[in-house]
Amino acid sequence: MRSILHRVARALGSDARITVMTGAGVSAASGVPTFRGADGLWKDFRVDDLATPQAFTRNPRAVWEWYDWRRQAIAGCQPNAAHHVLASWSLRFPRFTLITQNVDGLHERAGASDVLRLHGSIWDVGCWNQCAGSPHRWRDDSVPFPVLPPSCPHCGGPLRPGVVWFGELLDSEVVDRSLDATRCDVFFTVGTSAIVYPAAGFLDHARSHGAMTVEINPEATPASSTVDVVVPERAELALPELDATLGAHPLALTTERLRLEPLLPRHVEAAHQLWTHPEVRRYLWDDRIIPRETAEEVARASAADFARHRFGLWLVYGHEESGMPVGFCGLRTDGVGPGPELLFGLYPTYWGRGFAQEASRAVLAHAFTTLRLPRVTAATDAPNERSARTLSAIGMRFDRRAEHNGLDTLFYSIDLRR
Ligand code: OAD
Repeated sequence: MRSILHRVARALGSDARITVMTGAGVSAASGVPTFRGADGLWKDFRVDDLATPQAFTRNPRAVWEWYDWRRQAIAGCQPNAAHHVLASWSLRFPRFTLITQNVDGLHERAGASDVLRLHGSIWDVGCWNQCAGSPHRWRDDSVPFPVLPPSCPHCGGPLRPGVVWFGELLDSEVVDRSLDATRCDVFFTVGTSAIVYPAAGFLDHARSHGAMTVEINPEATPASSTVDVVVPERAELALPELDATLGAHPLALTTERLRLEPLLPRHVEAAHQLWTHPEVRRYLWDDRIIPRETAEEVARASAADFARHRFGLWLVYGHEESGMPVGFCGLRTDGVGPGPELLFGLYPTYWGRGFAQEASRAVLAHAFTTLRLPRVTAATDAPNERSARTLSAIGMRFDRRAEHNGLDTLFYSIDLRR
């Protein structure tokens, strides 16, 4: 897979025109169900009962119950690493277009701007009667709606979901802009079964304009046999890998004695070995066995952090040591305080050599010099005096002492402005 991704990465020059079209698979890792396949929505629900104007005419309440249920489910979902990478590309590549068939709004929540939403948004509503007083569509985040169907504030008639149903026309401006974006250098189709038109046809347009075409999908689709490159992998893994392959992020850090490698999903094995090593387990995780899924989760969160913030967790390797990481170090956003928060851990075997200080200093230098972050915090349980000593040694100041998760915890910070 590495060589496939390198081939794609070579085509992603900073002046390349890049268009990405996504489908439900890109949100699967966030917990939003896809439409087709074993667990797909269309297995338990019928399009004709729920996603057509006729269904709404027959039974608006039943249709709304389904959309209200999906809105509640999506409200509890977070963007995943795939959304974050695409959001960072929308900033990084000046000629980037993101087209989505998804109505969940997760691309926007990850920070992508100007998303072309072919099928509308589940967060928009419109007046079913198209009354003169109401705009065509507007956003309403109510979850759940107190009454179904919700009523139009202008005429009192029923509201409809702001999605495009089967049998309805797509917004012509969105289609025109999408078609224009198929005149590109690289066209990606990501996490879509590639069977619903007109979206499915954009790929052919892109190919006829001479674009390199790439599919990212763990399953084969009708598009698989026609694209130039198939990446048979889940989007939340493939996109961070590809992003890391682009190499413009200052990801790896080196110091005199250490090399810090960003923890990405491809390093799950090394991370898992590190965290299940008896010495590390004992002091880091209260001797709990860390399941592989936890290591995968941490690696995914780290990849998402790297895609979004250019920091996350790094695995720390000693230049003199063989193979295994000696520990980890990094900045995370899901810590006990407002992020970014410094975190580190080493094998006890390596305690006393100043490795934790050396790795933490490299991370802080990256945070302050490259990323220009104003402040980094840290927290340590009071009995963990070793960590407290390391934090003081790297210039972090004690802020306060408070109970966190039932443990007496010391909070530290370092502030560039001080
Ligand atoms: P589908 O449910 O048809 O297809 C989802 C695709 O995502 C499948 O090909 C899966 O193999 C793939 N997939 C699953 N998990 C993935 C992952 N983690 N990473 C990458 N790919 C993954 O959804 P769409 O193609 O989006 O339309 O469906 C298109 C349209 O049909 C939807 O917009 C909706 C639906 O009916 C309307 O409601 C108008």
